[in-house]
Amino acid sequence: MSLTEKYGNTALVAGASEGIGAAFSTFLAAAGMDLVMVARRREPLDILAFSLTEKYHVKTTVICCDLSDQNAAQSLKEAVCDREISVLVYNAALSYIGLFEKNSSEHHNHIARANMVTPMNLVHIFGENMLKKGKGAIILMASLAGFQGSGFLTAYAATKAFTRVLAESLWYEWKGRSVDVIACCAGATATENYLRTNPGRTGFFAPRVQRPEEVVKECMKNLGRKPSFVSGLGNRIASFFMHKILPRKTAVNIMGNTTRKMYHL
Ligand SMILES: NC(=O)c1ccc[n+]([C@@H]2O[C@H](COP(=O)([O-])OP(=O)(O)OC[C@H]3O[C@@H](n4cnc5c(N)ncnc54)[C@H](OP(=O)(O)O)[C@@H]3O)[C@@H](O)[C@H]2O)c1
Repeated sequence: MSLTEKYGNTALVAGASEGIGAAFSTFLAAAGMDLVMVARRREPLDILAFSLTEKYHVKTTVICCDLSDQNAAQSLKEAVCDREISVLVYNAALSYIGLFEKNSSEHHNHIARANMVTPMNLVHIFGENMLKKGKGAIILMASLAGFQGSGFLTAYAATKAFTRVLAESLWYEWKGRSVDVIACCAGATATENYLRTNPGRTGFFAPRVQRPEEVVKECMKNLGRKPSFVSGLGNRIASFFMHKILPRKTAVNIMGNTTRKMYHL
């Protein structure tokens, strides 16, 4: 069964213009889905939307919205109007690398809204209609940083733990109602945003940095099969040792030390 037969015709990708979000947009357009593409900057969105329309002959709609705004979900609902969203991909996230107390409380609040409040509200808004139709899919981008305490990524990591638990819980509640929910737990991925942070090498045994297209391909393969998954073999092996073998305290120390080394903190 094709993606459009299984879920419907239109996908909304929040954080669609770059990196993993752009790879999701491309994958879904190639599968014949019309797209509602959301990000803050119009130009990169317009460029990608134009090229996807040209290449795959799908309809694309571009919406500029800051997902960390208090009423972002409601504004998006109004902008989407009565178009039916069959697949929701929540990709965008805000982060801060460094000591927790050095970041302003206001920015921590932005992180919490962009990474937790807005996606939860969007899931509520668009999930309701999916449940009524008896079909749909929701993909939430989580991270290996959310599997344990992650010093220097504190607020970001905590929001990613929330994301994973939100997706897994909904997977359980909605699996009998033909709405697939999944948390995509990525490790380091060569997106524009990741590369902008200028990460250093962390050692010979560090898992390979994935390409955004690899993450998306794995996610689409696991959608409907699992509540969450770790992307990339190297990341799965590292995650097995960190979370199944090592004591939690050791895992938290490894994570903090790795981030300290990566960013020369
Ligand atoms: N890259 C990695 O190594 C990695 C590892 C683990 C997990 N992840 C997860 O994968 C997802 C994607 O990460 P990424 O590296 O591609 O970077 P990202 O900054 O989370 O996503 C980039 C996309 O989101 C948009 N965006 C960012 N902040 C936004 C906001 N406040 N409102 C609206 N749109 C916003 C960007 O466009 P504008 O800037 O124009 O808004 C761009 O289209 C995130 O959820 C991240 O936590 C990434």
